[in-house]
Amino acid sequence: METLFNSFSSIIVFLHVISAIVWVGGMIAIRFAVHYSMQEIEDPKIKLGRTLETLRRFFNMVIPAIIILLLSAIIMIIALKFKGTPLYNFVIAKEAIWTIMTIVFIVIFIKRKQASKAFEEGKFPLAKEKLMPIAQYLIPLNIILGLVAIYLGVTLRGF
Ligand code: HEM
Repeated sequence: METLFNSFSSIIVFLHVISAIVWVGGMIAIRFAVHYSMQEIEDPKIKLGRTLETLRRFFNMVIPAIIILLLSAIIMIIALKFKGTPLYNFVIAKEAIWTIMTIVFIVIFIKRKQASKAFEEGKFPLAKEKLMPIAQYLIPLNIILGLVAIYLGVTLRGF
């Protein structure tokens, strides 16, 4: 693992950082640009349909990002030997944050699926009810956690 990291350290850090950009940057763009823009659509059917489609396409990018983030992190923690150093606490904190963010993502994924089913059955108010917590709490929570993880990443990098 150490030689793997030494030979490909730039590409591994690159994959870690680009995955964080896709996940956290994507959530910020969706929540603060796409979400508000979508509110302008009057027709509930079009509004819900576009929201569901936007989330579906976003998930296609985020799922690989979540997996690559973890795989690159595992390679780094083994190769960089943080165990026994004061920085190890930050590694544990990042693992905890990744886990919580992934659980929150799974909740978002399930809620979108339920909303999509309700939408197909013509139950628009139910679809809206399922989508509401995604914008209200879940994405904002994951944005905050993601920003903390990025800050901890900068700390771990060392200077
Ligand atoms: C699975 C748990 C994680 C571990 C063990 C971990 C570990 C690390 C380590 C060791 C570095 C330093 C790399 C170096 O030496 O250059 C790093 C950097 C970084 N991490 Fe993580 N990470 C984890 C999850 C995350 C998450 C969830 C995010 C954001 C969503 C994230 C974003 C970043 C960023 C942006 C950097 C680059 C910082 C810089 O180069 O200044 N990491 N991470």
